[in-house]
Amino acid sequence: MLHLLSEHLPGSDVARRYSWLYEQNPHGRAVTVIARDERSGEPLGITSVFPRRMLIAGRMRLGSIGGDGYVRPSARRRGIATAMHRASLERMRAEGVEIMFGPPEPHNLRALERAGARVVCHVRRFARPRLLQSVLGPLGRIVARGGRLVPIEGRDPRVDRIFERAVDDTLVTPVRDAAHYAWRFVECPSRAQRAFVVLSGDKLLGLCVLEHAGRRVAIVDLVAHPDDLGHALSIVASSSGAEALVTQINDRGPHARSLGRAGFFPREGKPFQVHACEGMDPAVFDARRWYYAWGDGDLDRVI
Ligand SMILES: CC(C)(COP(=O)(O)OP(=O)(O)OC[C@H]1O[C@@H](n2cnc3c(N)ncnc32)[C@H](O)[C@@H]1OP(=O)(O)O)[C@@H](O)C(=O)NCCC(=O)NCCS
Repeated sequence: MLHLLSEHLPGSDVARRYSWLYEQNPHGRAVTVIARDERSGEPLGITSVFPRRMLIAGRMRLGSIGGDGYVRPSARRRGIATAMHRASLERMRAEGVEIMFGPPEPHNLRALERAGARVVCHVRRFARPRLLQSVLGPLGRIVARGGRLVPIEGRDPRVDRIFERAVDDTLVTPVRDAAHYAWRFVECPSRAQRAFVVLSGDKLLGLCVLEHAGRRVAIVDLVAHPDDLGHALSIVASSSGAEALVTQINDRGPHARSLGRAGFFPREGKPFQVHACEGMDPAVFDARRWYYAWGDGDLDRVI
C-alpha cells in the first residue's frame, strides 16, 4: 500500500499521510481496495474512500470522499480503475458507508461513471482579484468593524454550535464538527490550512479555514448561517491580510450567489460526482442542495 502510494505521490511523506488520513480520521477508518494481478499477485492499483458524516436533507448518514486512486502506468486502460470503483462500492456498503463524492481527475471520472457514479454539479474556483480587493478593502473594513478571527487549536465545541446553526433540512453537506475540524485542520501533516472562529463582537458568526500563499489567500472552508454569510466574508477578507482571495464551491449550490455579490468572479470548474449505494435519498443528486468546499477534499494544500 505505502509503495503504491509513494509511486502515486512522489516526494510526499506517505507513512505520515497514511496514519493521519487512513487511520486517525474521527469519522472512520479508510476503506481501501487493492487490485492485484491474478497470476503473479503483484499489486496493480489502489483506491480509497475516507468516511465523513453527512447531513442529507435533515438526516445524518455516513458518506465518504474518494481519494488516492492510482493504477500503475503499465496496467492502465485495462478497466482496473473501473473494477476497483465497483469493488469499492461493495466494500463501502459492507462497512456502512452509503455514498462517495468528490471532483475527480478526468480519467478517473470516466472510470467512476462506468462503475455507476453520476455527475451532479461542478465545483468552481471563484476569485476576488487584487484590484477589486483593494477597492473593496476599505469598505469591507467598515462593514467588518468589531469582527475578528480566533484560531481553533484543538477540539472546539463552538464548531458544532456554528455548524448546527448554519444548516437546514434542504442541504446535502459533509458535517463540520469539533472532532473533524481538529483532525483535518489542526493535526494534518502540513498545517498549511488554519481554522478560525469568525466573531462579530461576542457573537459566533461562522467558521473559516484559510491557506496563505504570500498575500494570496484561499478560503478553504466557510460556514455561516445564510443571513450572516456576507458579514462573515467581509470579516474574513479584511482580517486575512489578503491582496487577492480565492475559493472553490459548487457553482449551483448554497452560497454561490453570495460570493458573486461579494465581488468574486467564477473561474474554471470541475465535474463533481456522486457514487451512491442503491436506495440512497435522491436529494444527493440535486445540484442545488450540495455545499462542498475545498476543505472537504483530501488535499491539505490547495494553492
Ligand atoms: C486515472 C487512473 C486511475 C485510471 O486508471 P485505469 O485503470 O487506466 O482506468 P480504466 O481502464 O478503468 O479507464 C476507464 C475509462 O476512462 C478513460 N481513460 C482512462 N485513462 C485514460 C487516458 N489516459 N486517456 C484517455 N481516456 C482515459 C477511458 O474512457 C477508459 O475507458 P477505455 O480504456 O475503454 O477507453 C490512472 O490513469 C491513474 O492512476 N492516473 C494517475 C493518478 C490519477 O490521476 N488518479 C486519479 C486522481 S482523482
